[in-house]
Amino acid sequence: MVEGYTYDFYVRAASYIRERIKEVPTVAVVLGTGCAPFADKITDSVTIPYKDIPGFPVPTNADHAGNMVAGYVGGRYIICMNGRCHFYEGYSMEELNIPVHVLHVLGVRTLVLTNASGSCNPDFHTGDAMIIRDHIKLYGGSPMRGPNVSELGPRFFGVSDLYTAELRKIAKVCASRSRMKVHEGVYMFFPGPQFETASEIRAARILGADAVGMSTVTEALTAAHCGMRLLGLALITNMATGMTEEKVDGTEVNENASRVAPQFSSLLEDIVASI
Ligand code: HPA
Repeated sequence: MVEGYTYDFYVRAASYIRERIKEVPTVAVVLGTGCAPFADKITDSVTIPYKDIPGFPVPTNADHAGNMVAGYVGGRYIICMNGRCHFYEGYSMEELNIPVHVLHVLGVRTLVLTNASGSCNPDFHTGDAMIIRDHIKLYGGSPMRGPNVSELGPRFFGVSDLYTAELRKIAKVCASRSRMKVHEGVYMFFPGPQFETASEIRAARILGADAVGMSTVTEALTAAHCGMRLLGLALITNMATGMTEEKVDGTEVNENASRVAPQFSSLLEDIVASI
């Protein structure tokens, strides 16, 4: 919870969204870098800019749209966050709980998180995807630091089944009929905005990470706090620093993400229709 924010704060934001959309969405998808084409697959859609939702954090990245898009995918009414806020933009860990708690109050019970990641597993390649089995976050605090809002979830909560096994199983079936190579592995959070040093990536590998990135974990922890079923999907946009001779830079990450975005969006569409 954010200091001074009460349950009413989250209800206000959720009510604003609910008044503008057709049904209660039980599934939400958060689109990371390069995943935006998925939003075009949503039919009968309503778009709500984050900036209009009371108290909602707004992305400062030019390549993150900052819109809620609600509508149908595979016959199911869903809501999609096209773009997200990150810790490196200046938001606190605590502020980053807002989107997922608002979705929970809206009625969302299953959350699909996507992101762009660098791979520290030598068997993965740029353009592959990874179903997140678990994560490592050694940096900083928690999105649930501060007074607990008991209407949203308990003070102390377990994270042993953070990424729901049943959803990972469904994602693997969808992966087997997709055009992408899809792995399963561990995602490690780094705060950014700098990419990692080669030594940090060596450390990440020793700790058991397969991919690294600057998002997802605050949303995953918030989902655990309010008891949502959770699936995480990482799009491998580059080999992490030191894994190859090539230097990691933001332009390359965005270009690679755009290149595989259509296949990744199709995989996501199949998953959303199947869960
Ligand atoms: N490191 C951190 N975040 C990222 C990377 C990376 O190599 N690629 C895409 N997002």
